[in-house]
This record gives sequence, structure tokens and C-alpha cells, in this order.
Amino acid sequence: MGQGIIPFLQIILDFGCGAGYYTIPLAKIVGDNGKVYALDKDGNSLGELKSKAKEEKVKNIEIIKTSGELKIPFEDNSIDVVLLYDVIHSYYFSDDERKKVVDEVKRVLKTKGMLSLYPKHMNLEEIKCEIEKEGFYLEKRFFTTLLHYYSLTSGYILNFRRR
Ligand SMILES: C[S@@+](CC[C@H](N)C(=O)[O-])C[C@H]1O[C@@H](n2cnc3c(N)ncnc32)[C@H](O)[C@@H]1O
Repeated sequence: MGQGIIPFLQIILDFGCGAGYYTIPLAKIVGDNGKVYALDKDGNSLGELKSKAKEEKVKNIEIIKTSGELKIPFEDNSIDVVLLYDVIHSYYFSDDERKKVVDEVKRVLKTKGMLSLYPKHMNLEEIKCEIEKEGFYLEKRFFTTLLHYYSLTSGYILNFRRR
């Protein structure tokens, strides 16, 4: 995660944040200079995130509980970085729904804003092409250590920029 997703950070959206395995470290990294919106449809996971944030005294996280709607509740061009980590695969989204989510990410991101993707359960080349077709370009791809629930795993991260 340290490999260059946030040089001077402002506003981040962790879409499908779950219990916040990435939300909390991100919020600590951005500190007073930023804010992390943690969006999920699962109230239990968000409750877990809320408790952890309180325990760790992290104050710059705002939790957004949705009903799973694909429209992202933000204005156009308002977000610097969107995380889609282990979320837009077929377990949760059909092909059409995934396209809609990526369109929405594009809408809410500022120009040159970053979409950081952990494409777990997805074919790397296929998802890269799909996202590039929606108006992004791949800026960086790297293999790294990642969090999966409470254990460590490894995988690719793809960082795209909005055109
Ligand atoms: C496998 S978990 C990944 C959680 C977290 N991003 C991580 O990597 O630890 C996928 C999360 O996406 C959420 N999710 C799936 N579809 C969603 C939707 N339409 N709107 C909001 N959250 C969604 C699920 O509730 C779940 O918490």
C-alpha cells in the first residue's frame, strides 16, 4: 500500500470498505490533511470499522452505509482517490453492474484522480482493458503484500488515473 497511492492526500473513498482493513491505515496516512469516506452496504462490517477507529483514535473517517445502490453519493469531480479493493468481482456485481460502478467512480473522481484497484478473483488483463475503456489509463501496477481479513496475502494492485 505504501507504493505511491497518496503523495499529498486529500479526499479518499474506500468503496466496499468492509471492516476497514485498508480504511484505517489510509486514514492514518492522510492524517489531518485528508478524510476517508468508508462506504459499504454491510452494517455489521461498518460497525466493526467504527469500533476499531474509535479504539485507535482515528477521527478522519466518515462511514457511509448504503443499500447497495450503484450510484455513489458524491458530487462530480469531488474525490482524489477511490479504492476498489476485492469488491468489483462477480461475487457482488454482474458485468453491467461493474461497468456502472466504474462509471460512477469516474464521475466522482477529479481529473487525474486515482482509482486504486485490488482485482482479487479477477483476470488482470481483462479488468485492465475494461477499466481503460471507461476513461482511465493504467499508471502503475505492482505486486505487493495485502491484507485479507486478519492475515497477509499477496497480489497485484493496479493504479489508474482518470483521463
Ligand atoms: C470482500 S469484501 C472487501 C472489503 C475490503 N475492501 C477489504 O479489501 O478488506 C467486499 C465488500 O464489498 C461490499 N459490497 C459489495 N457490494 C457492494 C455495494 N453494491 N455497495 C457497497 N458495498 C458493497 C461488501 O459488503 C463487502 O464488505
